[in-house]
Amino acid sequence: MSLYNKLQQSSSEEDVKDHYIKALGLKHYQKNLIDIQTKEVWFEAKDTGKTSTYAMFTQLLHYVQDALNKGEHVPPFLAVIDTQKAAIMRSADVIPFLSKKTIKWGKSASNYTQEALDAVSSYIGTHFVSYRIETHEDEFISTLKAAITSGEIIRTQITPDNLKQVFDKWVNMIGVEIIGVEKEDYALLFFADIMHDGTISTHENLPAELLHKNNSPVFSLDGKLYELGSKEGYRRFWAIYHKPPKSEYRNYILERRDSLIPVDERSFKGAYYTPLDVVDKAYDKLSETLGSNWQKDYVVWDMCCGVGNLEIKHSNHRKLFMSTLDAEDIDVMKATKTCVAAERFQYDFLNDDIDEAGKIDYDISKKLPNGLRKAILEKKKILILINPPYAEATNSANASLSKKGDNTSTKDGVSVTNLPHFLWKDGVRLKMNCLCNF
Ligand SMILES: C[S@@+](CC[C@H](N)C(=O)[O-])C[C@H]1O[C@@H](n2cnc3c(N)ncnc32)[C@H](O)[C@@H]1O
Repeated sequence: MSLYNKLQQSSSEEDVKDHYIKALGLKHYQKNLIDIQTKEVWFEAKDTGKTSTYAMFTQLLHYVQDALNKGEHVPPFLAVIDTQKAAIMRSADVIPFLSKKTIKWGKSASNYTQEALDAVSSYIGTHFVSYRIETHEDEFISTLKAAITSGEIIRTQITPDNLKQVFDKWVNMIGVEIIGVEKEDYALLFFADIMHDGTISTHENLPAELLHKNNSPVFSLDGKLYELGSKEGYRRFWAIYHKPPKSEYRNYILERRDSLIPVDERSFKGAYYTPLDVVDKAYDKLSETLGSNWQKDYVVWDMCCGVGNLEIKHSNHRKLFMSTLDAEDIDVMKATKTCVAAERFQYDFLNDDIDEAGKIDYDISKKLPNGLRKAILEKKKILILINPPYAEATNSANASLSKKGDNTSTKDGVSVTNLPHFLWKDGVRLKMNCLCNF
């Protein structure tokens, strides 16, 4: 059972303390006036979620003040815990403030004066890191444990493994505060935010950008600026997580944009990235089937390339054309420098360039690069290399995918569901080698 669930069932302050002691694996502790006392951390605990973090720290700092006055040991960290929330702070950040001895404490720690609460609150506001246990218990536990062993409050790294959870938390704490932004753009703003070290972005030309205006973060997307309604969630979020992610994860994280697209939209677009072991297998099969020189012999077009994983092993970029539905995916490819020398462009292979009579006319959108049009016209050997958006002919996702053309017919015994119609409509006949089941 999670710590949060246990806390909800606790019926006394003792229960709350014991649940935290267990979750944090505290070995040598005492329970005295100070609720939990170890060599490294002192805790103030409450059995509800009603007392503010500031009030709890005010009580705990009263004990710290006493210890300082008596020249006794003060631990490196101070923490407050209750059934809903927890917070941690370095003692070193408050000791200079307490040393001035200007605070008028009450008779006891729990009888603090309003004056003490105000003075403490205005000082500690930026020094503690707070966690909502319902959503951030893992982060609190790992940060506190790491603080005990390392002596530092180490922020949680963003990695491919926690990307989706971090994104969901980012949406709740930051995304919802961004004024006027569409929900479907959250992922782009999230990437802009995390791929930034506070001064510069780790990648040039990401679809969205993090800027600063009057010392506040603002996001720029499609020429519009988006401001935060409140900065509190932003401050609290970035006190918990470290950014940018480690350099070895950055491109991989950007390429996993599909994992952040809401499930509905993802199944509608068939937007699942191609795993790299599948890419390996596909390239082995291609060499087996077409010979080891196939990249020299064929013009290659991936017309649903997403963020370009399928061509990550491709070496002959001069003969490579990559297009996909979402312009943002093209931007991600550019930012991650994927297949730099290939022609990469936005194109809806099911709907673009079909005239009223259902015939292909590349002059309608003029999106197809000249090199590709020439290759089609000159009947060059073209290899259509795709991991298509999966959708069954009978399901509704497919019905929505295919807006104009009927792409569900059968040609020469090959099911052409969602396959590019120009292959036969345009008089160009290509042999399709299907590398399925790899
Ligand atoms: C299975 S994914 C391929 C992923 C890609 N190989 C990668 O690893 O990123 C299918 C891709 O087709 C795109 N797509 C869906 N409908 C499309 C359309 N009508 N025209 C072009 N691309 C489309 C989706 O957005 C998605 O990126």
